[in-house]
Amino acid sequence: MKRTEIKVIVQNPSEGEVCVCGWIRTIRKSKGICFIALSDGSTAENIQLVAEENAITEYDKLSSLGTGASISVNGLLIFTPEAKQPFEIKVKSYTILGFCPTDYPLQKKNHTPEFLRTIPHLRVRSNTFGNVFRVRSEASFAIHEFFRENGFFYVHTPIITDSDAEGAGEMFTVTTLNPTLENTDFTGDFFSKHASLTVSGQLEGEYMAMGLGKIYTFGPTFRAEKSFTARHAAEFWMIEPEMAFTDLDGLCETAEAMLKFVLTKLLERCKSELNFFDKFYDNGLVERLKAVTDTQFSRCSYTEAIEHLEKANADFEYTPKWGIDLQTEHERYLTEIVFQNPVFVYDYPKEIKAFYMRQNDDGKTVAACDLLVPRVGELIGGSQREERLDILKSRMAELHMDENAYSRYLDTRKYGSVYHSGFGLGFERLLMYVTGIQNIRDVIPFPRTAGTIY
Ligand code: 4AD
Ligand code: MG
Repeated sequence: MKRTEIKVIVQNPSEGEVCVCGWIRTIRKSKGICFIALSDGSTAENIQLVAEENAITEYDKLSSLGTGASISVNGLLIFTPEAKQPFEIKVKSYTILGFCPTDYPLQKKNHTPEFLRTIPHLRVRSNTFGNVFRVRSEASFAIHEFFRENGFFYVHTPIITDSDAEGAGEMFTVTTLNPTLENTDFTGDFFSKHASLTVSGQLEGEYMAMGLGKIYTFGPTFRAEKSFTARHAAEFWMIEPEMAFTDLDGLCETAEAMLKFVLTKLLERCKSELNFFDKFYDNGLVERLKAVTDTQFSRCSYTEAIEHLEKANADFEYTPKWGIDLQTEHERYLTEIVFQNPVFVYDYPKEIKAFYMRQNDDGKTVAACDLLVPRVGELIGGSQREERLDILKSRMAELHMDENAYSRYLDTRKYGSVYHSGFGLGFERLLMYVTGIQNIRDVIPFPRTAGTIY
């Protein structure tokens, strides 16, 4: 008999013969009967199997299986209006696909997230991580859907690069040279020059937008920053749209529409998963996400943000004053206490932002904006780009940047330059926001963070 996925059965159960495959989540024995909760990963729901001693052959073998064992079952689906679950499957025959000895780490419930991180190859079989990774998949799809419906082209920017898009020097070198030597001369290396893993697809994204109009990238991003926080990973995924003929206002509108679109789709498509997170990780999560989909996001200039922080009745580790980079504690205070809403902070001091951001007429700030959300802080960072060749060049000179290394970037300002804007959304931060999970290591399947490859 052909196997049916549990998701298909749960969505449209009908009485009759059925074949299911999966892993045993729990097994409970009474006299002459055993109950198995089976999961196949297709959905958050388990299915209940009932096996009776006098109804099947080799009952003992089935009833002695433990959590984690995998089986294939043929049985009869029947509705059970009196019971907790709306239906169950009466086992008629079964095949053991894989035994699972008692040292299976997920045998025991309530492991700490720290322990589960050490078994990334197995933790996906737990309720929490099954739910996280189903939401992760749906969220990626919704992001593609949003951009496609809004006329953006999906472009692939390189992972190995020879330029530092953020100018922050937090790059991992890619080399085939002998790792025991401290090399600074890369002429004999694979690419005949220094190469690294990308910190952002933005620069190439800008080139593509200068021909295609509106583009986005969605790819892995690497940062060698030694930030031992719950929000920083050395390898994470970033979504970076870039839009020609768009200013900072247009950018904020797109970012807000995108976030609302993704939340709406997840509320529709991941109900069980989000209810699970609401119950076990973040009470009130679903209602809060719903509220976000129909409120207008707040907006506030950096200068106003600093004023709010200076008069805040809070014990900040870093004293707020004009010119500082906002710390997570400041970002969270603004979004959680002052605005109680997602908030765009715009017009940051140019000294704390990247070289490519468009300078404002005040000579002090740039047309940058970050979207801050409760619990996470910075979810999105973006800006209008400096499209004026002379101003861009003088900013690069101020920062002692080598013009030759950015000659392509400068070319796009030389040949038919247009005003344009773009932003980067940290995909794992988005997942932390929608699941209420507080550590970035728990929303990416195989985390890489300073000090550890899990
Ligand atoms: O603010 P960032 O550094 O901006 C850029 O990289 C721009 N080039 C984006 C653009 O305009 N196209 O990073 C963008 C977002 C942050 O807001 C944050 O959500 C996420 O990427 N992010 C990280 N996520 C996880 N781990 C890290 N180490 C991250 N660094 C940034
Ligand atoms: Mg940023």
